[in-house]
Amino acid sequence: MHAAHGRGWELVGIREGYDGVLYPEQYADGGMIVLTPEKVERIAHLGGTILGTTNRGNPFRAIEPQADGTTCEVDRSSAVLDAFRRHDIDALIAVGGDGSLGIAHGLWEKGLRLVGVPKTIDNDLDATVMTFGYNSAVSFATECIDRLHVTAHAHRRVIVVEVMGRHAGWIALSAGIAGGADAILIPEIPYDLTRVAAHLARPGTGRRAYAIVVVAEGAHPAGGDVVVKRREAGRTDLLGGIGERVAAELQELTGLESRATVLGHLLRGGSPTALDRMLGLAFGTAAVRALAEGHNGVMVAVNPPRIEYVPLKQAIERMKIVPLDGEGVLTARSLGISFGD
Ligand code: F6P
Repeated sequence: MHAAHGRGWELVGIREGYDGVLYPEQYADGGMIVLTPEKVERIAHLGGTILGTTNRGNPFRAIEPQADGTTCEVDRSSAVLDAFRRHDIDALIAVGGDGSLGIAHGLWEKGLRLVGVPKTIDNDLDATVMTFGYNSAVSFATECIDRLHVTAHAHRRVIVVEVMGRHAGWIALSAGIAGGADAILIPEIPYDLTRVAAHLARPGTGRRAYAIVVVAEGAHPAGGDVVVKRREAGRTDLLGGIGERVAAELQELTGLESRATVLGHLLRGGSPTALDRMLGLAFGTAAVRALAEGHNGVMVAVNPPRIEYVPLKQAIERMKIVPLDGEGVLTARSLGISFGD
């Protein structure tokens, strides 16, 4: 905000993705707010967003109610461009993960001038070394694991910690290593729980008689499927429940009392780490610079020590999953952490 303000630009925030411009009548303030230094004062230490968000708001596939009470999917992307023209908005800074930046790319192809900013706790965007939100999620998950060690140790239990991560296991991997987990189950490495159980038991190795297992919501057994919590037409399946399943099976296999804790949306809240604040501010100011320098259709990306601009197309082309020969997996294996493979 300050970087744009400093250039004499007016900055407006759109409520809840594109809903603020598509359905302004639904908002008391017309769906947009002028962002001033006063509006953003003392928010850097807060999690979340003052604008609101939605993961159902794809203007290319807007779900709209019909007169007969049913709903139907409509392409309202042109209405977004019309609204920008009507409000004299020259450019968009689109903040989000692969879904949001995919939509941004579509709007850019239709002629909207824009720059993307990578924000997701999942860290699964390939063109940037890190997305903002990720470090805060990992830090909090690590703190939770630290706390769970207490009960695991005192009661000699297996505690299974379920974290987010649909296709990529970055949070599970990093928090699992940092929190001293015994096993980490991620979508990239289909697991076999008999191997995990054997690893936890390992007689004669002096292994502790309790265990912490970190599992990403998108992890699945070799030859098996992810655990879907809810399936709704027109929506991505809601994952969740893998932690309970793994705990029940490990109890059977190890004879140790096993419990599951789901961190879920707790990972998205709370105060951002210093690294995330720095990254968010660096990305935001770089996005303003990119527009000022005439860039269009790019995403700001961190490639230490620099912030670069990469074509949006390249940014959304490939998901960044955990490489099996990467430092994280190698570190974990060297520490004796099992992936159940
Ligand atoms: O932000 C991405 C993500 O954290 C995924 O890992 C997860 O599957 C999804 O969000 C869950 O979103 P929600 O439950 O809020 O719809």
